[in-house]
Amino acid sequence: MTDLPPAIGVVGAGTMGAGIAQLGCLAGFDTYLHDPFPEALERGGEEIHRRLSRRGEEGAERRLVLADSLEELAGCGLVIEAIPERRDLKLELFARLREIAPDAVLASNTSSILVSSLAGDDENVVGMHFFNPPPVMRLLEVIAAEQTGEEALEVARAVGERMGKHVIVASDGPGFLVNRCNRPFGAEALLLLQQRVATAEQIDRIYRLAGGFRMGPFELMDLVGIDVGLEVARSFDEQSFGEPRWKPSPLQARMVAAGRLGRKTGRGWFDYPREVADPEPRAGKASARIVGDSPVARALRDRVTDSGSLVIDCEGDDGDVVLCADRRLGDRARVGFNLVPPLGHLVELTGERDERVESFFGDCGFVTEWVGDAPGLVLGRVACQLVNEAAFAIGEGVGSAEDVDAGMTLGLNHPRGPVEWGRLIGFDRVLATIDGLFDEYRDPRYRAAPPLRRGGL
Ligand SMILES: NC(=O)c1ccc[n+]([C@@H]2O[C@H](COP(=O)([O-])OP(=O)(O)OC[C@H]3O[C@@H](n4cnc5c(N)ncnc54)[C@H](O)[C@@H]3O)[C@@H](O)[C@H]2O)c1
Repeated sequence: MTDLPPAIGVVGAGTMGAGIAQLGCLAGFDTYLHDPFPEALERGGEEIHRRLSRRGEEGAERRLVLADSLEELAGCGLVIEAIPERRDLKLELFARLREIAPDAVLASNTSSILVSSLAGDDENVVGMHFFNPPPVMRLLEVIAAEQTGEEALEVARAVGERMGKHVIVASDGPGFLVNRCNRPFGAEALLLLQQRVATAEQIDRIYRLAGGFRMGPFELMDLVGIDVGLEVARSFDEQSFGEPRWKPSPLQARMVAAGRLGRKTGRGWFDYPREVADPEPRAGKASARIVGDSPVARALRDRVTDSGSLVIDCEGDDGDVVLCADRRLGDRARVGFNLVPPLGHLVELTGERDERVESFFGDCGFVTEWVGDAPGLVLGRVACQLVNEAAFAIGEGVGSAEDVDAGMTLGLNHPRGPVEWGRLIGFDRVLATIDGLFDEYRDPRYRAAPPLRRGGL
């Protein structure tokens, strides 16, 4: 068992720092919060007191010390920094802290700077990547820099666990584990928009209603700031020396050039204020002949009387409506569809608009969305690229399959982890879709990860 430090320090009293200090108090640590800007320290302190007193946590409130100077953190066994995302500031802070608290473990909450670039020759530096808002999100991603020693890792892990977090340990690199595995969430959406497969509004609706995500990629980009997203994309590109899967999007750059940064400028992918009202699915009596034995065919068959003149082909080429999973609709039929297990409340359709097909899927309980022709249409492409990215990360030892799934569900609220999603879809089918995308676009972002090619995760 690692000895827990009796006192911890947090530097930076903003969104993340205040949340982390609150966790420290609740976990029973004397928590020293410092911010060089007195108003920021006061604001952060007030926020923590307000939240703790609302929960009747007077004991925890008493553990918070608002430190006017950094020197007051001298007795802390662990100091977590949550100051602005700039390497020069973080390096300067760590150098000062090292003088003040020579034996403390120093942790960075950075989400995009290599922890190895902050550690110098110090084995007591580690990454502790909390998710926003820290008191709510259950995940803590601990990052082992190239220099990090076992003891520092253990302190970070033990403190995180005492704070009630599910702790995963990731290796250092672009986006560590969680943000790296999430790259396709936004990157594929931008590409689908660029290729005019669907509009931003449609893509968001598909992610929410068919994929089960709480938010679509474009509303999320608007919330976070398109400029912030572009910076993150640039840092992935730079740190990976131009990995094709992580290229920034020219559409993002154009929005930033136009000053349309999202909610904060009143306009981004959408205009604000904005109301989103999703259509409600209805259900009726659906009948069709479902061909095939794939997970999609079986799930669809459960909702349908197996009769009628409509033939829905979930495998081959000769139905009235064919599944566009690993290929475009092309000349195979007049209408194509895509559903990704586990089936949500929306089906994507492509090809010639056809009322009979629309009313069939409506009767099955789906909202319909007509999109452009592409392998996997929208959700199929995104889901398979999420699985593919996870396969790359696991293959490269960034983290285990369990940690990847815990990371995406507990850190980012994904409805399911990519490994579980791959199992539900079938790893062979994921591979076929990735190969289909490669055949279609000849873009190396669609090369299959070695573990996927070898048969799954
Ligand atoms: N906001 C998120 O969703 C999120 C999620 C994970 C990680 N992070 C990371 O956490 C860190 C902090 O982000 P945030 O959103 O809390 O920022 P923030 O702007 O809300 O807070 C930063 C705080 O640092 C203070 N500060 C400024 N310069 C300082 C300095 N030189 N020394 C000490 N303090 C200084 C500011 O007064 C402010 O209170 C960043 O590294 C960010 O990348 C943010």
